[in-house]
Amino acid sequence: MDHFNAVNSVRILYFSGTGGTKRFAEAFEKELKSRGITVFVKNLGESLQEKKNAPAEQEIGAADLNILLYSVYAMDAPRPVYDWIGSVTGQEAGKRIAVLSVSGGGEMWPNTGSRSDCCKALEDRGFRIVYDRMLCMPANVMVNYSDHLVMHLLNVIPRKVTQIVEELLAGRVRRTESKKGFFCKKLSRVERKNSYQFAQKFQIADQCTGCGWCEQNCPTRNIEIPESASKPRFKDQCVICMRCVYGCPTNAIKVKGNFVLKNGFDLSAVERRMKDVELAPVEKCCKGLLYKGVKEYLLDKY
Ligand SMILES: Cc1cc2nc3c(=O)[nH]c(=O)nc-3n(C[C@H](O)[C@H](O)[C@H](O)COP(=O)(O)O)c2cc1C
Ligand code: SF4
Ligand code: SF4
Repeated sequence: MDHFNAVNSVRILYFSGTGGTKRFAEAFEKELKSRGITVFVKNLGESLQEKKNAPAEQEIGAADLNILLYSVYAMDAPRPVYDWIGSVTGQEAGKRIAVLSVSGGGEMWPNTGSRSDCCKALEDRGFRIVYDRMLCMPANVMVNYSDHLVMHLLNVIPRKVTQIVEELLAGRVRRTESKKGFFCKKLSRVERKNSYQFAQKFQIADQCTGCGWCEQNCPTRNIEIPESASKPRFKDQCVICMRCVYGCPTNAIKVKGNFVLKNGFDLSAVERRMKDVELAPVEKCCKGLLYKGVKEYLLDKY
């Protein structure tokens, strides 16, 4: 048990490239507010529009407990999460934080070290980590989850969030001991190094209308549409979040290879398609080793 202090206010910090982790952040906000707790939300990958509406930082700093949520990129936290940790000042010393990583594959190798470097960086800044845990959302690269599996993952969000909130408010400490092995550490570093210029390989198809959606929504302001041109240009601050690729209204951003899902990634579209459809059982949706971590997550094995 954590040395118990009542939680009256919570700060939720989250990074979400394509909206999966955002759904968890929203569910935590709703659950905590329903219990009379004051909630501050800080989006670490906010669009220009969201930035305009964000609350003042002083207000955010006052919470009793922090909940950090992020999508897993190459068995690690995305760069904007480390940028935020790097910007934290001494006043966070001793503050409690729960670290929740959101991955496509769940808690199985090689994902098991997805929080270790991030937790270490937070501790170096003086945070007291009271809880860390893996959550799952559909993979947004390489593996195309069936609509049935996507729906299972969306439907389970409220139950998982209620359980975590109850544990946090009761002061339960939950820490994962697993560390990142040599191989995974190397892979994470390679991904990070190569990510900066990743978007410069994107090709913009003729159907681009120059609408500016990608420029407005890139979390790292990596896209600009110069006045002299009608198509986007990519700078060297990409984090491979995939938001521009899947969010472009005309599907004009093309990426070579099998990394990007051919049919796009749109959770709301799956919800619309699957309305009133009876779901196949979890076991049927999660056949094979690839889905082991997701299956165990849905069956509450961790
Ligand atoms: C660049 C990149 C790297 C990823 N690496 C992993 C990974 O190492 N393990 C994993 O299980 N999922 C990985 N994923 C999948 C995401 O973690 C997963 O789809 C997550 O739910 C996305 O959350 P979001 O919609 O909030 O961005 C990766 C996705 C991207 C874009
Ligand atoms: S790439 Fe897509 S989102 Fe970006 S300006 Fe062109 S049409 Fe708009
Ligand atoms: S350029 Fe695209 S993929 Fe890269 S960070 Fe911006 S929105 Fe994400």
